Amino acid sequence: MSFRTTSAIDYVEDVSPGSGSLPPRARYASSDARSLSLNGSWRFRLSPTADAEDDSFAAEGFDAGDWAEVSVPGHWVLQGHGSPIYTNHLYPFPVDPPRVPTGNPTGDHRHTFDLPSHWPSDGGAVLRFAGVESCARVWLNGTDIGEFKGSRLPHEFAVGHLLKPGGNVLAVRVHQWSAGSYLEDQDQWWLPGIFRDVTLLHRPAGGVLDFFVHASYDHVEGLGTLRVDSDVDGRVTLPGLDIDVATGESVTVPVRPWTAETPQLYDGVLATEGERVALRVGFRTVALEDGLLKVNGTPLLFKGVNRHEWHPERGRALDLETMREDVLLMKRHNINAVRTSHYPPHPAFLDLCDEYGLWVVDECDLETHGFTEQDWRDNPVDDDRWTPALLDRAARMVERDKNHPSVVVWSLGNEAGTGRGLTAMAEWIRGRDDSRLIHYEGDIDCRDTDVYSRMYADHAEVETIGRGLDGGTHKRRGLPFILCEYGHAMGNGPGGIADYQHLFESYDRIQGGFIWEWIDHGIRDERYGFAYGGDFGEELHDGNFVCDGLLFPDRTPSPGLIEYKKVIEPVRIVGDGADGTVRVTNGYDFADLSALAFQWSYQVDGETVEAGVLSVPELAPGESADVKLPDPPTGPRGGETQWTVRATLAADTAWGPKDHLVAWAQFPLSARPLTAVAQSDGPVLGEGQITLGPAAFDARTGALRSIGGVDVRGLRLDVWRAPTDNDNGAAWQPDQRFGPLWRELGLHRMQHRLDSVELGDDALTVRTRVAPAAREVALRTVYRWTSDGTRLRLTVSVAPEGDWRLPLPRLGIRLGLAGSVHGARWFGGGPGEAYPDTKSASMVGRWESTIDGLQTPYVRPQENGARADVRWVEIGGLRVEGEPEFWFTARRWTSEQLDAAEHPTDLLAGDTVWVNLDHGQQGIGSQSCGPGALEQYQLRPAPAEFTFHFSEIHG
Ligand code: GAL
Repeated sequence: MSFRTTSAIDYVEDVSPGSGSLPPRARYASSDARSLSLNGSWRFRLSPTADAEDDSFAAEGFDAGDWAEVSVPGHWVLQGHGSPIYTNHLYPFPVDPPRVPTGNPTGDHRHTFDLPSHWPSDGGAVLRFAGVESCARVWLNGTDIGEFKGSRLPHEFAVGHLLKPGGNVLAVRVHQWSAGSYLEDQDQWWLPGIFRDVTLLHRPAGGVLDFFVHASYDHVEGLGTLRVDSDVDGRVTLPGLDIDVATGESVTVPVRPWTAETPQLYDGVLATEGERVALRVGFRTVALEDGLLKVNGTPLLFKGVNRHEWHPERGRALDLETMREDVLLMKRHNINAVRTSHYPPHPAFLDLCDEYGLWVVDECDLETHGFTEQDWRDNPVDDDRWTPALLDRAARMVERDKNHPSVVVWSLGNEAGTGRGLTAMAEWIRGRDDSRLIHYEGDIDCRDTDVYSRMYADHAEVETIGRGLDGGTHKRRGLPFILCEYGHAMGNGPGGIADYQHLFESYDRIQGGFIWEWIDHGIRDERYGFAYGGDFGEELHDGNFVCDGLLFPDRTPSPGLIEYKKVIEPVRIVGDGADGTVRVTNGYDFADLSALAFQWSYQVDGETVEAGVLSVPELAPGESADVKLPDPPTGPRGGETQWTVRATLAADTAWGPKDHLVAWAQFPLSARPLTAVAQSDGPVLGEGQITLGPAAFDARTGALRSIGGVDVRGLRLDVWRAPTDNDNGAAWQPDQRFGPLWRELGLHRMQHRLDSVELGDDALTVRTRVAPAAREVALRTVYRWTSDGTRLRLTVSVAPEGDWRLPLPRLGIRLGLAGSVHGARWFGGGPGEAYPDTKSASMVGRWESTIDGLQTPYVRPQENGARADVRWVEIGGLRVEGEPEFWFTARRWTSEQLDAAEHPTDLLAGDTVWVNLDHGQQGIGSQSCGPGALEQYQLRPAPAEFTFHFSEIHG
């Protein structure tokens, strides 16, 4: 006999969105009605299953005095109760929808509150949960008021009849797993808890219910039309525009439009009989026209990022300051758009997007990616039983966010396959709000959408799409294209984004993209610095795939963000040093250049000798002008010279201070004169050593020992780098993944065979063959040393042997400097790291850094920190000049140690600083999810020759 009991917890596994809550409605930032934040410290008890405890805790007299306490908003797993779990697309429980495991961590929360004095006795009250993961049941003063799912969406309950002046008891039972979990399989940590605000709102009689601000802009006439539809009649006033109309009535007046570049908002009020609600109105019209996404008649170019909500200690429980920091960082890095991957964000974030100006693709809280493991069988989005839940999610997003001018596109969700449920969502959204476009990447034929969207398409395919040669359905061929995800920013990278940007700017149909993703979701952790998947002993996990952002978990910009800022700069400055003109192009879609000031500067050997103001006309969007540079300063010459032109903020703005750098370019004038080193000294064989100018070598091996007073160890050819996440690539990548292939070939264990040490009249020549065990490929490597008595010159010649099928990770020499080396100064690219396809932001100049400052602290250690185009570097008492320019890297550990480390805390500084001077580096690409390095950035083995001059720095 078998039986299953029905119980009070059946709602957990019920596909329905919940019961007892109020219909969704518009959210507003402020109102004159009273409200009470219930955030704070709550009593908390964790149970291992959904039904381990009865619900007596909800009763008024229950004594929770011995319970733990947690902060609300917050996730209990980040507050010492249980652990977070990270999976990309795999459900961390058996797939048997809508059933969830018996082991279902359940957090009972209990909070007691008094109404503030003078809390109005009339009207009603609403209890609002802005976000709870993943399913909650709520009691107020012992009365069960309902339950809900839809973690990143608001849920409101009418509770006025239950309130009393003092000692109200709010009890919330939160289940980690529920039927809703099947709809929330986003690539992120599973983090149960009441993670957004809990608020009690007084609802006065005659107060505002739902309202919809329709504010369009006629760009031909320069007129805005406003109509506020409201469930409760009232008046709408916008004093700045002298508007005072009844709700439901239209008014057309001259306005300044809202755009992300010019975020003009008009403050107003919606007043009903019982309440005054603040409005912030932005006039703009979004349209699909001529196959393009246009705002106010102008096609947009998204320079976007995908933003998950993240804080390294608080998870997805973000405070206003963190949200503001995100927006300011985006604005300061030239980003103009955000996709709220993969759920509606905390609503205050959208207020900030309205205020500072960012285009928003607002995405619904929906992903069922784990069903891909079973060929999408039983996918909830193609099963009518789930459609009410999907529609509920769509409505909760649209109703909450519809009054934000920044939201220009609704997204149905992410990676949920295809199905009728999605179509139903799209139809519902279109019926409710036809003033925005609809996006969903999984809809490859664009049956339900207004934008053809893809993720991680490679450059060649994007070009094909740009040229309109991609085929596809008739409807799709008429739609604009965006990359809703590209440039996978995991670890070192992403590479190749300048090449994407070039395509975006070359084809009208391509309206830009959104880098994956904004921030690493590392969790601050004493053991590791920042923890990632697996660090909490999860049964299934996806490692550091959760750390793939442009910001480190603590919001420090990574080199990827610096690169992106340069790649998407809104002003293009193209110059020709020789003829002394620069062509300046305004790349904004709406703004002229009046907010910017331009400066020129002139460098000799990287040092600025003169600078001045460059006067650039206030070009309209898309316009260019040729601007004359001054005559190059006269004076002692002989060095390498170049111009640098910078565009900076002319005055403080809401998001950046005066002088903040927005765009720049450099143009070489005269090339670097190369140093001639006379071969005046010859090698001399002594007791066990050979001397040559300032240098001493081991007589038997020809290995360099010292240069003047500086000891040098282990100088030899080096081809290995600690593979980056992009070198390793994702398991599902169709392309060759070089990280694993390099290891298989043995490039991390090259053997150096000594063939000869030859003392010539003017040179010491050491011949070697560098090759991995078990393979026949090799690099014949010859070191030729000469000297003029004070300087030492090394020319390395490399000739590949055998059938090399892979690019090399790097090609150069490495050497160890013993003792206390504190830092380096160099002339070349900086200040930050660069690789062949991440080099746009590398500015040629004089730079200096500590050794620690040269490291980029990727959450999972990997190759990092190379400086590009280095002419010379001074480090550890040595000056090294290169011919040609080289890549410079220095660290307190070897590449092998870096390779072995799993967290930065595994890296222990030794007594040697290891310096790599590279002739070549393999590009980075973004194969941790996207395409690998483009062919032109690959380091294919070929005969090579490169030279370094070493001299000791005295004093
Ligand atoms: C996409 C997905 C994102 C994330 C990314 C890889 O497929 O939409 O959520 O998983 O890949 O980091």
